[in-house]
Amino acid sequence: MTAPAHAPATAPAKAPAPVLFVDDEAALRHAATQALMLAGLEVIACASASEALAHLGGDFPGILVTDIRMPGMDGLGLMAEALSRDPELPVILITGHGDVDLAVQSMRDGAYDFLEKPYAPARLVEAVGRAQEKRRLTLENRRLRAGTVAPGDDPIGARLLGRSEVMTGLRAQLRAVAGTDADLLIEGETGTGKEVAARALHAASARAERPFVAVNCAALPAELIESELFGHEAGAFPGATRARYGKFEHARGGTLFLDEIDSLPMGLQAKLLHVIEERAVTRLGSNDAVALDLRVVAASKRDLTAAAAEGTFRPDLLYRLNVVTLRLPPLSARSEDIPMLFLALLEAAARRAGRPVPEVPGAVLSRLAARNWPGNVRELRNAAERMALGLEAGSAPTPTPEAAASGTLADSMAAHEKALIAATLAAHGGSLKASYEALGLSRKALYEKMQKHGLNRDAFREE
Ligand SMILES: Nc1ncnc2c1ncn2[C@@H]1O[C@H](COP(=O)(O)OP(=O)(O)OP(=O)(O)O)[C@@H](O)[C@H]1O
Ligand SMILES: [Mg+2]
Repeated sequence: MTAPAHAPATAPAKAPAPVLFVDDEAALRHAATQALMLAGLEVIACASASEALAHLGGDFPGILVTDIRMPGMDGLGLMAEALSRDPELPVILITGHGDVDLAVQSMRDGAYDFLEKPYAPARLVEAVGRAQEKRRLTLENRRLRAGTVAPGDDPIGARLLGRSEVMTGLRAQLRAVAGTDADLLIEGETGTGKEVAARALHAASARAERPFVAVNCAALPAELIESELFGHEAGAFPGATRARYGKFEHARGGTLFLDEIDSLPMGLQAKLLHVIEERAVTRLGSNDAVALDLRVVAASKRDLTAAAAEGTFRPDLLYRLNVVTLRLPPLSARSEDIPMLFLALLEAAARRAGRPVPEVPGAVLSRLAARNWPGNVRELRNAAERMALGLEAGSAPTPTPEAAASGTLADSMAAHEKALIAATLAAHGGSLKASYEALGLSRKALYEKMQKHGLNRDAFREE
Protein backbone atom coordinates (compact mmCIF):
# COMPACT_ATOMS: atom_id res chain seq x y z
CA MET A 1 0.00 0.00 0.00
CA THR A 2 1.47 3.34 -0.94
CA ALA A 3 0.05 6.76 -0.34
CA PRO A 4 0.14 9.43 -2.99
CA ALA A 5 2.97 11.84 -2.36
CA HIS A 6 2.00 15.46 -1.90
CA ALA A 7 -1.47 14.49 -0.77
CA PRO A 8 -3.62 17.56 -0.33
CA ALA A 9 -4.03 18.95 3.14
CA THR A 10 -7.30 17.82 4.64
CA ALA A 11 -8.28 20.77 6.83
CA PRO A 12 -10.27 23.52 5.17
CA ALA A 13 -8.53 26.83 4.67
CA LYS A 14 -9.73 29.82 6.68
CA ALA A 15 -13.52 29.72 6.47
CA PRO A 16 -14.88 32.20 3.91
CA ALA A 17 -17.32 34.85 5.13
CA PRO A 18 -19.84 35.22 2.31
CA VAL A 19 -21.69 38.45 1.69
CA LEU A 20 -25.45 37.98 1.58
CA PHE A 21 -26.54 40.85 -0.68
CA VAL A 22 -30.24 41.68 -0.99
CA ASP A 23 -31.77 44.13 -3.44
CA ASP A 24 -34.94 43.80 -5.48
CA GLU A 25 -33.51 45.89 -8.32
CA ALA A 26 -31.64 43.56 -10.67
CA ALA A 27 -29.28 46.21 -12.09
CA LEU A 28 -28.10 47.39 -8.66
CA ARG A 29 -27.79 43.80 -7.45
CA HIS A 30 -25.58 42.85 -10.38
CA ALA A 31 -23.39 45.91 -10.05
CA ALA A 32 -22.80 45.27 -6.35
CA THR A 33 -22.19 41.56 -6.89
CA GLN A 34 -19.59 42.37 -9.51
CA ALA A 35 -17.81 44.91 -7.30
CA LEU A 36 -17.66 42.46 -4.41
CA MET A 37 -16.52 39.55 -6.56
CA LEU A 38 -13.81 41.70 -8.12
CA ALA A 39 -12.57 42.31 -4.58
CA GLY A 40 -12.28 38.52 -4.21
CA LEU A 41 -15.34 38.11 -2.00
CA GLU A 42 -17.93 35.39 -2.10
CA VAL A 43 -21.43 36.76 -2.75
CA ILE A 44 -24.87 35.28 -2.33
CA ALA A 45 -27.23 37.62 -4.23
CA CYS A 46 -30.94 37.61 -3.37
CA ALA A 47 -33.87 39.54 -4.86
CA SER A 48 -36.05 39.46 -1.73
CA ALA A 49 -35.97 39.25 2.05
CA SER A 50 -37.59 35.82 2.08
CA GLU A 51 -34.95 34.47 -0.27
CA ALA A 52 -32.24 35.85 2.02
CA LEU A 53 -33.78 34.42 5.18
CA ALA A 54 -33.30 30.91 3.83
CA HIS A 55 -29.55 31.45 4.28
CA LEU A 56 -29.66 32.97 7.74
CA GLY A 57 -29.25 30.62 10.67
CA GLY A 58 -27.52 31.39 13.95
CA ASP A 59 -24.23 30.16 12.56
CA PHE A 60 -24.28 31.90 9.17
CA PRO A 61 -20.56 32.55 8.66
CA GLY A 62 -20.95 35.76 6.64
CA ILE A 63 -22.59 39.16 6.84
CA LEU A 64 -25.78 40.74 5.48
CA VAL A 65 -26.08 43.75 3.17
CA THR A 66 -29.62 44.80 2.32
CA ASP A 67 -31.51 47.54 0.58
CA ILE A 68 -34.18 49.06 2.81
CA ARG A 69 -36.96 49.73 0.36
CA MET A 70 -38.20 46.48 -1.13
CA PRO A 71 -41.64 45.05 -1.83
CA GLY A 72 -42.82 42.45 0.68
CA MET A 73 -40.63 42.38 3.79
CA ASP A 74 -38.40 45.46 3.63
CA GLY A 75 -34.76 45.71 4.69
CA LEU A 76 -35.60 46.79 8.24
CA GLY A 77 -37.90 43.80 8.69
CA LEU A 78 -35.21 41.54 7.31
CA MET A 79 -32.66 43.03 9.68
CA ALA A 80 -34.97 42.56 12.67
CA GLU A 81 -35.56 38.93 11.77
CA ALA A 82 -31.87 38.29 11.07
CA LEU A 83 -30.84 39.85 14.39
CA SER A 84 -33.41 37.79 16.26
CA ARG A 85 -31.70 34.70 14.85
CA ASP A 86 -28.21 36.01 15.61
CA PRO A 87 -27.95 39.32 17.51
CA GLU A 88 -24.27 39.65 16.60
CA LEU A 89 -24.70 39.42 12.82
CA PRO A 90 -23.28 42.54 11.14
CA VAL A 91 -25.95 44.11 8.94
CA ILE A 92 -25.20 46.88 6.44
CA LEU A 93 -28.25 48.80 5.25
CA ILE A 94 -28.52 50.63 1.97
CA THR A 95 -30.70 53.70 2.27
CA GLY A 96 -32.21 55.86 -0.41
CA HIS A 97 -30.72 59.27 -1.02
CA GLY A 98 -31.69 61.61 1.81
CA ASP A 99 -33.07 58.94 4.16
CA VAL A 100 -30.83 60.18 6.95
CA ASP A 101 -33.39 59.80 9.72
CA LEU A 102 -34.09 56.26 8.68
CA ALA A 103 -30.38 55.52 8.63
CA VAL A 104 -29.88 56.90 12.12
CA GLN A 105 -32.83 54.95 13.44
CA SER A 106 -31.55 51.74 11.84
CA MET A 107 -28.18 52.15 13.56
CA ARG A 108 -30.07 52.36 16.85
CA ASP A 109 -31.94 49.22 15.91
CA GLY A 110 -28.72 47.32 15.57
CA ALA A 111 -27.42 47.92 12.03
CA TYR A 112 -23.63 47.65 11.82
CA ASP A 113 -23.27 50.32 9.11
CA PHE A 114 -25.22 52.00 6.33
CA LEU A 115 -24.52 53.21 2.82
CA GLU A 116 -26.43 55.96 1.11
CA LYS A 117 -27.37 55.57 -2.55
CA PRO A 118 -25.68 56.16 -4.85
CA TYR A 119 -22.47 54.79 -3.33
CA ALA A 120 -19.05 54.15 -4.83
CA PRO A 121 -18.22 50.40 -5.18
CA ALA A 122 -15.07 51.00 -3.15
CA ARG A 123 -17.17 52.24 -0.22
CA LEU A 124 -19.22 49.05 -0.35
CA VAL A 125 -16.12 46.84 -0.42
CA GLU A 126 -14.60 48.78 2.46
CA ALA A 127 -17.71 48.58 4.67
CA VAL A 128 -18.10 44.88 3.88
CA GLY A 129 -14.45 44.22 4.76
CA ARG A 130 -14.86 45.79 8.20
CA ALA A 131 -18.06 43.86 8.84
CA GLN A 132 -16.43 40.59 7.80
CA GLU A 133 -13.52 41.17 10.16
CA LYS A 134 -15.97 41.76 12.99
CA ARG A 135 -17.86 38.62 12.02
CA ARG A 136 -14.68 36.56 11.98
CA LEU A 137 -13.79 37.72 15.50
CA THR A 138 -17.29 37.05 16.80
CA LEU A 139 -17.30 33.51 15.46
CA GLU A 140 -13.76 32.86 16.69
CA ASN A 141 -14.75 34.00 20.16
CA ARG A 142 -17.82 31.84 20.15
CA ARG A 143 -15.74 28.86 19.16
CA LEU A 144 -13.22 29.55 21.92
CA ARG A 145 -15.94 30.06 24.51
CA ALA A 146 -17.64 26.86 23.53
CA GLY A 147 -14.26 25.16 23.30
CA THR A 148 -15.81 22.72 20.92
CA VAL A 149 -16.92 22.54 17.38
CA ALA A 150 -20.29 21.14 18.26
CA PRO A 151 -21.66 23.42 20.96
CA GLY A 152 -23.64 21.70 23.66
CA ASP A 153 -21.55 18.61 24.21
CA ASP A 154 -18.41 18.89 26.26
CA PRO A 155 -15.80 16.23 25.50
CA ILE A 156 -13.25 17.92 27.78
CA GLY A 157 -15.53 18.19 30.82
CA ALA A 158 -16.71 14.62 30.31
CA ARG A 159 -13.19 13.18 30.27
CA LEU A 160 -11.01 15.32 32.47
CA LEU A 161 -12.80 15.30 35.81
CA GLY A 162 -12.05 17.38 38.89
CA ARG A 163 -13.66 20.43 40.45
CA SER A 164 -10.54 21.94 41.99
CA GLU A 165 -9.52 25.36 40.81
CA VAL A 166 -6.46 23.97 39.06
CA MET A 167 -8.49 21.42 37.06
CA THR A 168 -11.14 23.99 36.17
CA GLY A 169 -8.36 26.24 34.89
CA LEU A 170 -6.75 23.43 32.90
CA ARG A 171 -10.05 22.57 31.22
CA ALA A 172 -10.51 26.22 30.26
CA GLN A 173 -6.99 26.24 28.83
CA LEU A 174 -7.69 23.07 26.84
CA ARG A 175 -10.95 24.49 25.49
CA ALA A 176 -9.16 27.59 24.31
CA VAL A 177 -6.48 25.53 22.57
CA ALA A 178 -9.03 23.13 21.05
CA GLY A 179 -10.39 25.88 18.83
CA THR A 180 -6.94 26.61 17.41
CA ASP A 181 -4.34 24.61 15.51
CA ALA A 182 -1.61 25.18 18.09
CA ASP A 183 0.67 22.31 19.09
CA LEU A 184 0.74 21.49 22.77
CA LEU A 185 3.15 20.22 25.40
CA ILE A 186 1.72 18.39 28.42
CA GLU A 187 3.89 17.85 31.48
CA GLY A 188 2.97 15.85 34.56
CA GLU A 189 3.97 12.92 36.72
CA THR A 190 2.88 9.43 35.86
CA GLY A 191 -0.86 8.84 35.99
CA THR A 192 -1.84 12.51 36.22
CA GLY A 193 -3.96 12.39 33.06
CA LYS A 194 -1.65 13.54 30.26
CA GLU A 195 -3.12 11.13 27.75
CA VAL A 196 -6.64 11.78 28.97
CA ALA A 197 -6.04 15.50 28.37
CA ALA A 198 -4.59 14.89 24.90
CA ARG A 199 -7.56 12.74 23.86
CA ALA A 200 -10.02 15.26 25.29
CA LEU A 201 -8.34 18.04 23.31
CA HIS A 202 -8.60 15.99 20.15
CA ALA A 203 -12.26 15.16 20.78
CA ALA A 204 -13.08 18.82 21.34
CA SER A 205 -11.26 20.00 18.24
CA ALA A 206 -12.34 20.26 14.61
CA ARG A 207 -10.12 17.19 14.07
CA ALA A 208 -12.33 14.94 16.22
CA GLU A 209 -13.51 12.85 13.28
CA ARG A 210 -9.94 12.24 12.12
CA PRO A 211 -7.46 9.85 13.76
CA PHE A 212 -5.84 10.26 17.16
CA VAL A 213 -2.53 8.41 16.91
CA ALA A 214 -0.46 7.78 20.03
CA VAL A 215 3.23 6.90 19.89
CA ASN A 216 5.20 6.06 22.99
CA CYS A 217 8.71 7.26 22.22
CA ALA A 218 10.13 5.29 25.15
CA ALA A 219 8.64 1.96 24.15
CA LEU A 220 10.52 1.53 20.87
CA PRO A 221 14.20 0.86 20.28
CA ALA A 222 15.89 3.90 18.75
CA GLU A 223 16.52 2.17 15.43
CA LEU A 224 12.82 1.45 14.96
CA ILE A 225 11.37 4.81 16.01
CA GLU A 226 12.48 6.55 12.88
CA SER A 227 10.62 4.31 10.45
CA GLU A 228 7.74 4.03 12.90
CA LEU A 229 7.32 7.81 12.91
CA PHE A 230 8.23 8.71 9.36
CA GLY A 231 7.45 5.51 7.44
CA HIS A 232 9.64 3.95 4.78
CA GLU A 233 9.67 2.88 1.15
CA ALA A 234 10.22 -0.72 0.09
CA GLY A 235 13.93 -1.47 0.22
CA ALA A 236 14.77 1.54 2.36
CA PHE A 237 16.76 -0.74 4.64
CA PRO A 238 17.37 -4.49 4.96
CA GLY A 239 14.09 -6.07 5.97
CA ALA A 240 11.91 -3.30 4.58
CA THR A 241 10.21 -5.48 2.03
CA ARG A 242 7.16 -3.26 1.66
CA ALA A 243 6.48 0.44 1.84
CA ARG A 244 4.97 1.48 5.14
CA TYR A 245 3.07 4.48 6.43
CA GLY A 246 4.62 6.22 9.41
CA LYS A 247 2.63 7.45 12.39
CA PHE A 248 2.79 10.98 11.06
CA GLU A 249 0.97 9.92 7.92
CA HIS A 250 -1.51 7.81 9.89
CA ALA A 251 -2.44 10.88 11.91
CA ARG A 252 -3.07 13.11 8.89
CA GLY A 253 -5.94 15.49 9.52
CA GLY A 254 -5.97 14.46 13.17
CA THR A 255 -3.74 14.56 16.24
CA LEU A 256 -0.37 12.88 16.79
CA PHE A 257 0.34 12.22 20.48
CA LEU A 258 4.06 11.86 21.15
CA ASP A 259 4.25 10.35 24.62
CA GLU A 260 7.49 10.38 26.64
CA ILE A 261 9.04 12.72 24.14
CA ASP A 262 11.99 13.27 26.48
CA SER A 263 13.24 9.76 25.73
CA LEU A 264 13.69 10.50 22.02
CA PRO A 265 17.40 10.33 21.05
CA MET A 266 18.96 13.69 20.17
CA GLY A 267 19.40 12.81 16.49
CA LEU A 268 15.72 12.04 16.14
CA GLN A 269 14.79 15.20 18.02
CA ALA A 270 16.44 17.16 15.21
CA LYS A 271 14.49 15.24 12.58
CA LEU A 272 11.27 15.68 14.49
CA LEU A 273 11.84 19.41 14.76
CA HIS A 274 12.32 19.55 11.02
CA VAL A 275 9.09 17.66 10.32
CA ILE A 276 7.09 19.80 12.73
CA GLU A 277 8.47 23.01 11.26
CA GLU A 278 8.06 22.00 7.64
CA ARG A 279 4.72 20.27 8.20
CA ALA A 280 5.91 17.64 5.76
CA VAL A 281 7.38 14.21 6.23
CA THR A 282 9.75 12.26 3.98
CA ARG A 283 9.67 8.48 4.28
CA LEU A 284 12.97 6.69 4.71
CA GLY A 285 14.28 5.83 1.29
CA SER A 286 12.18 8.47 -0.45
CA ASN A 287 12.90 11.92 -1.81
CA ASP A 288 9.33 13.12 -1.85
CA ALA A 289 7.95 15.04 1.09
CA VAL A 290 4.33 14.38 1.99
CA ALA A 291 2.44 17.42 3.22
CA LEU A 292 1.04 17.05 6.73
CA ASP A 293 -1.95 18.62 8.31
CA LEU A 294 -2.08 17.58 11.95
CA ARG A 295 -1.75 18.79 15.50
CA VAL A 296 1.19 17.54 17.53
CA VAL A 297 0.68 16.99 21.25
CA ALA A 298 3.81 15.98 23.14
CA ALA A 299 3.89 14.65 26.68
CA SER A 300 6.67 14.28 29.20
CA LYS A 301 6.95 13.17 32.80
CA ARG A 302 10.16 15.15 33.10
CA ASP A 303 10.41 18.91 33.17
CA LEU A 304 11.66 19.53 29.62
CA THR A 305 13.15 22.90 30.49
CA ALA A 306 15.37 21.15 33.01
CA ALA A 307 16.15 18.45 30.45
CA ALA A 308 17.15 21.16 27.97
CA ALA A 309 19.36 22.80 30.59
CA GLU A 310 21.03 19.43 31.24
CA GLY A 311 21.65 19.01 27.54
CA THR A 312 19.47 15.93 26.98
CA PHE A 313 16.69 17.75 25.15
CA ARG A 314 17.09 20.12 22.22
CA PRO A 315 16.11 23.65 23.26
CA ASP A 316 14.92 24.47 19.72
CA LEU A 317 12.51 21.53 19.81
CA LEU A 318 11.38 22.59 23.26
CA TYR A 319 10.65 26.13 22.06
CA ARG A 320 8.75 24.75 19.10
CA LEU A 321 6.63 22.52 21.37
CA ASN A 322 6.03 24.72 24.40
CA VAL A 323 4.09 27.51 22.74
CA VAL A 324 1.28 26.20 24.92
CA THR A 325 2.19 24.07 27.94
CA LEU A 326 -0.28 22.27 30.15
CA ARG A 327 1.02 21.23 33.57
CA LEU A 328 -0.99 18.51 35.26
CA PRO A 329 -0.37 18.67 38.99
CA PRO A 330 0.12 15.53 41.07
CA LEU A 331 -3.04 14.29 42.74
CA SER A 332 -1.73 15.38 46.14
CA ALA A 333 -1.89 18.99 44.95
CA ARG A 334 -5.63 18.63 44.27
CA SER A 335 -6.68 16.31 47.08
CA GLU A 336 -10.11 17.95 47.25
CA ASP A 337 -10.82 16.20 43.93
CA ILE A 338 -10.06 12.75 45.29
CA PRO A 339 -13.52 11.91 46.68
CA MET A 340 -15.43 12.85 43.53
CA LEU A 341 -12.81 11.29 41.27
CA PHE A 342 -12.90 8.09 43.27
CA LEU A 343 -16.70 7.91 43.15
CA ALA A 344 -16.72 8.60 39.39
CA LEU A 345 -14.02 6.00 38.72
CA LEU A 346 -15.82 3.51 40.98
CA GLU A 347 -19.08 3.98 39.14
CA ALA A 348 -17.38 3.54 35.77
CA ALA A 349 -15.57 0.41 36.98
CA ALA A 350 -18.77 -1.09 38.38
CA ARG A 351 -20.59 -0.38 35.12
CA ARG A 352 -17.81 -2.05 33.13
CA ALA A 353 -17.91 -5.06 35.42
CA GLY A 354 -21.70 -5.21 35.32
CA ARG A 355 -21.87 -4.97 39.10
CA PRO A 356 -23.83 -2.70 41.44
CA VAL A 357 -22.00 0.44 42.55
CA PRO A 358 -20.83 -0.09 46.16
CA GLU A 359 -21.72 2.47 48.81
CA VAL A 360 -18.64 4.26 50.10
CA PRO A 361 -18.78 5.60 53.65
CA GLY A 362 -17.63 9.20 54.08
CA ALA A 363 -14.89 8.07 56.44
CA VAL A 364 -13.40 5.89 53.70
CA LEU A 365 -13.47 8.76 51.23
CA SER A 366 -11.69 11.03 53.66
CA ARG A 367 -9.03 8.41 54.29
CA LEU A 368 -8.53 8.10 50.54
CA ALA A 369 -8.26 11.87 50.23
CA ALA A 370 -5.67 12.08 52.95
CA ARG A 371 -3.31 9.37 51.76
CA ASN A 372 -0.49 9.62 49.29
CA TRP A 373 -1.00 8.55 45.66
CA PRO A 374 2.41 8.25 44.00
CA GLY A 375 0.68 6.71 40.96
CA ASN A 376 -1.76 9.62 40.95
CA VAL A 377 -5.15 9.20 39.22
CA ARG A 378 -4.15 5.89 37.66
CA GLU A 379 -3.48 4.45 41.12
CA LEU A 380 -6.76 5.87 42.39
CA ARG A 381 -8.51 4.29 39.43
CA ASN A 382 -6.96 0.92 40.24
CA ALA A 383 -8.17 1.22 43.84
CA ALA A 384 -11.67 2.04 42.57
CA GLU A 385 -11.52 -0.97 40.28
CA ARG A 386 -10.57 -3.26 43.15
CA MET A 387 -13.42 -1.94 45.25
CA ALA A 388 -15.89 -2.32 42.37
CA LEU A 389 -14.87 -5.96 42.10
CA GLY A 390 -15.32 -6.46 45.83
CA LEU A 391 -11.62 -7.11 46.34
CA GLU A 392 -11.19 -4.24 48.75
CA ALA A 393 -14.03 -3.57 51.15
CA GLY A 394 -13.45 0.13 51.48
CA SER A 395 -10.33 -0.12 53.58
CA ALA A 396 -7.46 2.05 52.55
CA PRO A 397 -3.94 2.41 53.81
CA THR A 398 -3.42 5.17 56.32
CA PRO A 399 -1.39 8.23 55.31
CA THR A 400 2.17 7.31 54.47
CA PRO A 401 5.04 8.82 56.44
CA GLU A 402 6.10 10.78 53.32
CA ALA A 403 2.73 12.45 53.19
CA ALA A 404 2.94 13.37 56.82
CA ALA A 405 6.53 14.54 56.55
CA SER A 406 6.05 16.96 53.67
CA GLY A 407 5.71 20.58 54.76
CA THR A 408 5.15 21.90 58.25
CA LEU A 409 2.77 20.30 60.70
CA ALA A 410 0.36 23.21 60.26
CA ASP A 411 0.43 22.78 56.47
CA SER A 412 -0.26 19.10 56.54
CA MET A 413 -3.00 19.51 59.14
CA ALA A 414 -4.66 22.16 57.00
CA ALA A 415 -4.40 19.91 53.94
CA HIS A 416 -5.85 17.05 55.91
CA GLU A 417 -8.70 19.19 57.22
CA LYS A 418 -9.50 20.41 53.71
CA ALA A 419 -9.50 16.88 52.28
CA LEU A 420 -11.66 15.61 55.12
CA ILE A 421 -14.25 18.35 54.68
CA ALA A 422 -14.28 17.90 50.91
CA ALA A 423 -14.72 14.16 51.31
CA THR A 424 -17.58 14.62 53.74
CA LEU A 425 -19.32 17.10 51.46
CA ALA A 426 -18.89 14.74 48.55
CA ALA A 427 -20.22 11.82 50.54
CA HIS A 428 -23.35 13.82 51.39
CA GLY A 429 -23.93 15.28 47.95
CA GLY A 430 -23.13 18.82 49.15
CA SER A 431 -25.63 18.80 52.02
CA LEU A 432 -24.30 21.14 54.72
CA LYS A 433 -26.50 19.80 57.50
CA ALA A 434 -25.50 16.19 56.93
CA SER A 435 -21.85 17.26 56.64
CA TYR A 436 -21.56 19.34 59.81
CA GLU A 437 -23.37 16.64 61.73
CA ALA A 438 -21.05 13.96 60.39
CA LEU A 439 -18.02 16.07 61.24
CA GLY A 440 -19.30 17.06 64.67
CA LEU A 441 -19.06 20.75 63.84
CA SER A 442 -21.48 23.63 64.18
CA ARG A 443 -22.98 25.03 60.99
CA LYS A 444 -20.98 28.21 61.48
CA ALA A 445 -17.71 26.37 62.04
CA LEU A 446 -18.20 24.36 58.86
CA TYR A 447 -18.96 27.53 56.88
CA GLU A 448 -15.83 29.20 58.17
CA LYS A 449 -13.62 26.25 57.40
CA MET A 450 -15.08 25.93 53.89
CA GLN A 451 -14.34 29.59 53.32
CA LYS A 452 -10.80 29.25 54.63
CA HIS A 453 -10.12 26.33 52.26
CA GLY A 454 -11.96 27.82 49.28
CA LEU A 455 -14.48 24.97 49.19
CA ASN A 456 -17.83 25.59 47.53
CA ARG A 457 -20.73 23.26 48.31
CA ASP A 458 -22.02 23.62 44.74
CA ALA A 459 -18.99 21.66 43.61
CA PHE A 460 -20.21 18.66 45.59
CA ARG A 461 -23.86 18.58 44.65
CA GLU A 462 -24.91 15.52 42.77
CA GLU A 463 -25.90 16.29 39.22
N1 LIG B 1 -8.85 14.14 35.41
C1 LIG B 1 -9.19 12.84 35.24
N2 LIG B 1 -10.48 12.48 35.22
C2 LIG B 1 -10.82 11.18 35.07
N3 LIG B 1 -9.95 10.18 34.94
C3 LIG B 1 -8.65 10.50 34.94
C4 LIG B 1 -8.20 11.84 35.06
N4 LIG B 1 -6.87 11.84 35.02
C5 LIG B 1 -6.49 10.57 34.87
N5 LIG B 1 -7.54 9.74 34.83
C6 LIG B 1 -7.51 8.27 34.78
O1 LIG B 1 -6.19 7.87 35.11
C7 LIG B 1 -5.66 7.04 34.10
C8 LIG B 1 -4.26 7.46 33.80
O2 LIG B 1 -4.27 8.67 33.08
P1 LIG B 1 -3.30 8.91 31.83
O3 LIG B 1 -3.08 7.64 31.08
O4 LIG B 1 -3.79 10.07 31.06
O5 LIG B 1 -1.96 9.29 32.62
P2 LIG B 1 -0.58 9.82 32.06
O6 LIG B 1 -0.33 11.15 32.63
O7 LIG B 1 -0.56 9.68 30.58
O8 LIG B 1 0.41 8.78 32.76
P3 LIG B 1 1.81 8.14 32.22
O9 LIG B 1 2.78 9.27 32.17
O10 LIG B 1 2.16 7.14 33.25
O11 LIG B 1 1.52 7.55 30.87
C9 LIG B 1 -6.58 7.17 32.91
O12 LIG B 1 -6.79 5.93 32.31
C10 LIG B 1 -7.87 7.67 33.49
O13 LIG B 1 -8.68 6.57 33.78
MG1 LIG C 1 0.43 8.26 29.42
